[in-house]
Amino acid sequence: MLAQADDGGKGLKRTLGAGNLIALGVGAIIGAGLFVRTAAAAGQAAGPAVTLSFIVAAIGCAFAGLCYAEFAAMIPISGSAYAYSYVTMGETVAWIIGWALIMEYALGAATVSIAWSEYLNKLLGGGIPYEWSHSPLESITDTAGVLHHGIMNAPALVILLLLTLLLIKGTQESAIVNAVIVFIKVAIVILFIILGWHFIRPENHTPYLIPANQPPLIDASGKVIADYSGVFKHGWGGVLGGAAIVFFAFIGFDAVSTAAQEAKNPKRDMPIGILGSLVVCTILYILFGHVLTGVANWKDFVDPLKGREASVAYAISTYMTGYGWLATAVTVAILAGFSSVILVMLMGQSRVFYSMANDGLLPKVFSDLHPKFRTPYKSNWILFVFVGGFAAFVPGSVAGDLTSFGTLFAFVLVSAGIWILRVKSPNMERPFKTPLVPLVPILGAVICLAMIFALDAQTLKVAFGWMALGLVVYFLYGRKHSKLN
Ligand code: ALA
Repeated sequence: MLAQADDGGKGLKRTLGAGNLIALGVGAIIGAGLFVRTAAAAGQAAGPAVTLSFIVAAIGCAFAGLCYAEFAAMIPISGSAYAYSYVTMGETVAWIIGWALIMEYALGAATVSIAWSEYLNKLLGGGIPYEWSHSPLESITDTAGVLHHGIMNAPALVILLLLTLLLIKGTQESAIVNAVIVFIKVAIVILFIILGWHFIRPENHTPYLIPANQPPLIDASGKVIADYSGVFKHGWGGVLGGAAIVFFAFIGFDAVSTAAQEAKNPKRDMPIGILGSLVVCTILYILFGHVLTGVANWKDFVDPLKGREASVAYAISTYMTGYGWLATAVTVAILAGFSSVILVMLMGQSRVFYSMANDGLLPKVFSDLHPKFRTPYKSNWILFVFVGGFAAFVPGSVAGDLTSFGTLFAFVLVSAGIWILRVKSPNMERPFKTPLVPLVPILGAVICLAMIFALDAQTLKVAFGWMALGLVVYFLYGRKHSKLN
């Protein structure tokens, strides 16, 4: 596989340095998870201790991240978890993980592009007609009693098209645009932390954990809007419940590894890119959570009349007098953040397909490179049609948790793979070594498995249905055409 990746300068171009890789990671990581789920986790489960939830989720990711780092430095080819499973567990397991990664990357890109469309509309003051910004499966009755049906989500398609064109143009060009976007969103996150710090009210942080005797919150009509009696809804249990909610905010550091074949010096830079972006984001997340729950009270974040939606903008405009512009800046940061998440997810997906096609498991069209730009342009176009179709015609609520499933599933297999390869090929050159094997891989796999089973039953059903479909495709196509066969 290593020899194949190094195919005499005809393959993917090696253009990315350590800085690019960290930016790629931060590009994929900071998005809806931070801006939307932080408040949700605080309001529903963790209270101000959402900062601790971030630490718990980060520890879970760090175990998997250390395993990714060892693989990405040792086998620097473009398929990420797919390729590592291929080497360690064989073609069938690799296929299964490749199929699961479609949930992470392709569905992830679709979900975030739908969210992008919503926020664009918010920034434009609701100027985009309902019909042209929603799926045909959605409808609404306006204040005049007129029923509107969605036709298609046009803004979501537009952002996907623009980013697809950029990806085809070149990996380096994409990395430059990504770096600009990352700069904007990180700057605004830091600005919020610094300016918001002065508006923190200590009483919002006391008590720090949601108390066990916290009564349910009710709205004006007497309906219960939040109940804290469950184990994972208060106290330390709530910190764990919050961690499961904010896990989504960390998804993306693994996408760095899909670019391994385009890294200039993968042995040194892949671990830096993967672990560096994880560390940067964890620090920002903890500070962000600390400020957000200090500025506004966590109970506001479950109240539909207060901060349940657009929570960050709510906290700023309600409690930070004189900083109305910051609320607009945060919306811009969110749009920027979503764009880079989509960009890196689309890129990651096309690189996984590239590897699968190289192994004969997918048709060759997925590994054809553009004669001049040397990017997998046909794959990028097919992906645009697939992801675009999903984004234009399916409601956004469908895919978020499936993205978490695909990611966690990959983390489990990558963690297991590290241990397997240490036993099978102890003498292979390992530029970066995961510490404390097998403890770290075991903890990584166990924590991620636990988070999979914490997902709701509906998500698990759809996910297993998707995996079953994958096996049918494998036995009808992949197995017969594969290079191994
Ligand atoms: N981590 C990415 C986000 O928060 C997926 O949007």
